[in-house]
Amino acid sequence: MVSAPRWLAALTTALGLPENKGQIMYQLASVDANGNPHVRTIGHRGFIEPEGSPNLPLLMCATDIRTPKVTQILTNPHVELIWWLSGSMEQFRLTGVVRLVPPPDAQLPDLPVQSTEASLAFQKMDAQGFEWEKKRVETYDVQPPFLRAGFARPPPGAIIENYDVGKSWPGIVPRAEDAQNEEEKQAYERGLRTFALMFFDPVEVDWVQLKERPNRRTKFIRKGEEWSEYIAVP
Ligand SMILES: Cc1cc2nc3c(=O)[nH]c(=O)nc-3n(C[C@H](O)[C@H](O)[C@H](O)COP(=O)(O)O)c2cc1C
Repeated sequence: MVSAPRWLAALTTALGLPENKGQIMYQLASVDANGNPHVRTIGHRGFIEPEGSPNLPLLMCATDIRTPKVTQILTNPHVELIWWLSGSMEQFRLTGVVRLVPPPDAQLPDLPVQSTEASLAFQKMDAQGFEWEKKRVETYDVQPPFLRAGFARPPPGAIIENYDVGKSWPGIVPRAEDAQNEEEKQAYERGLRTFALMFFDPVEVDWVQLKERPNRRTKFIRKGEEWSEYIAVP
């Protein structure tokens, strides 16, 4: 009987603590084709696992298909993320691979396809017939209207004349069924065409607990389906 890795229990416990309320942001690092690093803040959108495999948890987040990170992770799906939970003074550093779930009609850069086959979790979910596109649309729909609006704007990073240009963009985008007019309906559709999910499959986790005296550091490494655990010098 497989079970969830201890780091996941530690992370979900930390996230449930009142002192960590709302700390659902982590920093995700990727590299570009030249090997140069890029890091940015990303909002956590939940955990998911293949059926019957609690030992292979994935982290889900979302991005705009037009952002540079998309080309980076398509070029090299190996990424690292860091999650600092200031309330409990814990740091989780997770290393692994990402799978992108783009909108079906997205114009993706023409790159040699990088395999994420090393990811057992993705293989299992494919074999179980997981509906990646259905999950993408559901996730787009459940987010608050102000977040959905972020996906209906011009391409992130595009240069604009001045800050006031942004005043013409929709501040909120309701779900399709709640749209009051054609403009809102179009904004919903426009956002759905740029909204992409990213699923992160960790193979190494480095957990530091700074409230403990002496401080604690624990490393978790996955080989195949098995997680091993090591105590390390902080
Ligand atoms: C608090 C906060 C949360 C963010 N959440 C996300 C997110 O969930 N997804 C995302 O793509 N960008 C998010 N961003 C914006 C990114 O940090 C980044 O600026 C943007 O995605 C462009 O990244 P790139 O140029 O590296 O692709 C967030 C920024 C902040 C400050």
